[in-house]
Amino acid sequence: MDVKIYEYDAVIVGAGLAGLAAAKELTEAGKKTAVITKLHPLRSHSGAAQGGINAALGKDDSTELHEFDTVKGSDYLADQDAVELMCTKAPETIRWAERMGAAFSRDEEGHIAIRPFGGQSKPRACYAKDRTGLAVLQAIYEQAFRAGIEVFDEWYVADLLYKDGKAYGVSAYNIRNSEPAIFNAKVVMFATGGHARAFRFNSNAHANTGDALSIVARHGLPLEDMEFVQFHPSGLGGSGVLISEAARGEGGRLFNSEGERFMSKYAPNAMELASRDVVSRAIMEEVRQGRGVGKDKQSVNIDLTHLDPQIILTRLPELRELAIAFQGQDMLKEPIHISATAHYSMGGIPTNINCQVRKNPHELVEGFYAAGECSCVSVHGANRLGANSVLEALLFGRHAGENMVKQLDEGIELKKATQADADTMLAEIKKIKTSNGKERVAKLREELQNGMTENAGVFRTKESLEKQIVIIDDLLKRFNNIRIDDKSDTYNTDLQEALELGHMLEFSKFIVVGALKREESRGSHYREDFPKRDDERFLKHTYAYMDKDYNITTEWGDVVITKFEPKERSY
Ligand code: FUM
Repeated sequence: MDVKIYEYDAVIVGAGLAGLAAAKELTEAGKKTAVITKLHPLRSHSGAAQGGINAALGKDDSTELHEFDTVKGSDYLADQDAVELMCTKAPETIRWAERMGAAFSRDEEGHIAIRPFGGQSKPRACYAKDRTGLAVLQAIYEQAFRAGIEVFDEWYVADLLYKDGKAYGVSAYNIRNSEPAIFNAKVVMFATGGHARAFRFNSNAHANTGDALSIVARHGLPLEDMEFVQFHPSGLGGSGVLISEAARGEGGRLFNSEGERFMSKYAPNAMELASRDVVSRAIMEEVRQGRGVGKDKQSVNIDLTHLDPQIILTRLPELRELAIAFQGQDMLKEPIHISATAHYSMGGIPTNINCQVRKNPHELVEGFYAAGECSCVSVHGANRLGANSVLEALLFGRHAGENMVKQLDEGIELKKATQADADTMLAEIKKIKTSNGKERVAKLREELQNGMTENAGVFRTKESLEKQIVIIDDLLKRFNNIRIDDKSDTYNTDLQEALELGHMLEFSKFIVVGALKREESRGSHYREDFPKRDDERFLKHTYAYMDKDYNITTEWGDVVITKFEPKERSY
């Protein structure tokens, strides 16, 4: 098959905030840049971020306090040099986004409004009502478009071109007509977002299937800290659709079926505004103890009826609409049912502070960058603070763009691709299309999601994790025996979902193996059999590698500690 080869200075995979911010920098610097995305950029999951983007803009706030809250929230696993970079550059990033056209909500004095979020000692989440991500994404998209970025949307990236420690492009196909192509580039960036679709109950878009993670891992490159998956305390009961932390930031209170404001038992000072890991565990514990609400008693109530209705109508209008649409519950009049929902991945493709991908804890891959949720620069450690993800994506996306420009200016050779570089992708597609087995993609995916939720969710034990490894290994075998019905070349979503499932199975194994090896509880990772944090053994990053038979091995990497020595957390 004839495979077209495109040549670029830079190729970026993913068109959310991180990818677009990087593309804008590169294009404005005159670098020939392609952005490849399986969705239209404005459908990227960055647009679903509701509650805010952090920056120490308040009168009695400081970037150092933002740093401290972030490190404490991370349960001391975040790399503090990266946290310092993020927090000190946050105020400038907000002003930059505003200059780009992001319309933030204002306070009475006309300043950018800030609201409280969990785990933070000061209000610092800047917001645009409860559609913050969308407001920022639209602005950055417009400006990137104005700069002249070249977008290949509805293209599916199936492989990274990587040899001898150097990345030199990707192979991809056009979802519209299955036309394959190679995007050969001097520098490559992955900015593909999150992967919480591996769990049954999640807040993520359907596209968040973590393809980039196993694409990287299939080349023997590591993934970092994959065991840390954040469960957001408030997903709508039953569906997992996000009800922003802004609901608690504006004063929402949590109650169990006995009418008890139960957070007083778990976080007597911070109450509903403890960090997400603490609140999610509290909710799930109440449910486990039989104090849940709703038809299946799997939720708790969030009550906002005591608030001035104008607060809900002007600051949380989308949340109200979502709860009415999905549950028929109007938060102006009654409490609504919520439960912890898989939301965000702290781990991912390891990078240094300049967003360059690591080959192992000590070496870098040449010409390869990553930013945003698919990456692990490690500003979130074991648990992310709400409103730090939009910040991270935007700030490190821009930072990656600047660093790629620098590397291109210094001079980096284009390693020429050949048509043979598409062979792995073409073989994978052929295998799926010609496989005539009995297994169905949707069924395998459902079994994966159910297992991950049951065995590798908010609460974990050695037994549950070992059980989940057996489930995944079995699913990986059965995946070889699938059959898809659509064999056509036009918008073949059957094919795409099969490719995505392959990735989900593989990166899920990283989550579970990492969780099994980490015999402690830290941030979002809670082992009932090891309920305490163990800094002596585990104040370390996990680097995990997969072989061709899906065996996963791990090694430890150092955590960067500069200003804040690890302390016990309390809220
Ligand atoms: O709750 C929220 O609005 C989500 C924000 C985030 O994950 O940062």
